[in-house]
Amino acid sequence: MATIIDGKAVAAKVRSEVASEVAKLSQAGKRIPCLAVILAGDNKASEVYVRNKKKDCAEVGFVSREIDFDNDVTESELLKTIAELNADDGVDGILCQLPLPKGIDENTVLRAIDPCKDVDAFHPYSAGLIMQGQPEFLPCTPAGIMRLLDEYAIDVIGKECVIIGRSNIVGKPMAQLLIARSATVTVCHTKTSDLAFHTKRADVIIAAAGKAGLVSGDMIKDGAVVIDVGMNRDANGALCGDCDYESCAQKASFITPVPGGVGPMTRAMLLINTMTAYNKH
Ligand code: GUN
Repeated sequence: MATIIDGKAVAAKVRSEVASEVAKLSQAGKRIPCLAVILAGDNKASEVYVRNKKKDCAEVGFVSREIDFDNDVTESELLKTIAELNADDGVDGILCQLPLPKGIDENTVLRAIDPCKDVDAFHPYSAGLIMQGQPEFLPCTPAGIMRLLDEYAIDVIGKECVIIGRSNIVGKPMAQLLIARSATVTVCHTKTSDLAFHTKRADVIIAAAGKAGLVSGDMIKDGAVVIDVGMNRDANGALCGDCDYESCAQKASFITPVPGGVGPMTRAMLLINTMTAYNKH
């Protein structure tokens, strides 16, 4: 049976590390780090994500600011707000919650964020630095996965790592981080002709496809490390990942549960990035 990677516990540890840094700043009478979150539109999931981000900020002692817009917000209104936050010395990190309302070009908005405050690491400048192995900010999910691997002393040097999914937010930066750690990396996606061929030879599988039940136990080798980034709903409406937990846990050496695996780490790494932005500021 696999060791369950406890993302909730590691995330709590990260939060307490950040909280003790903030306490030191506070005791020294220094300014407290501040995260600004832009929420545009009425996407219910986004509202939950933003509420959780603010809750995390409060827990570690950060200041958080939320700037809300209705569904009919214009691109120029968003760009104006971002320009103001870029220029505001009291703001360390800026995050624009995605997706944005219809008609607004996500790329234009994300590119308007000052790369020094790009705590999501979605700006092409941040992506370029990751590509060159000199990151300033790491996207929160891949950074959280690397931290989990470190916490459980899972070494990836020379290992066959198979990533499923090629998103800008998870799959592509994850590949870069693993390459930087000297792993051998394969990125599979919707056009991969034989997914099981790749997963069967993987020492580490990172599933970030957004498809429930995509990876089953018969598709992995004994002792594989299974990192499940999926956030899906099963037929009963329960949260589940991309991997069939029961069958994969029979064969894996380590496995992340959903919920309680990667998800809490994504939230925790945003705090680390905000602290990094503050320290660079
Ligand atoms: N929407 C879903 N996840 C995220 C995230 O990590 N960052 C932002 N900005 N939007 C999201």
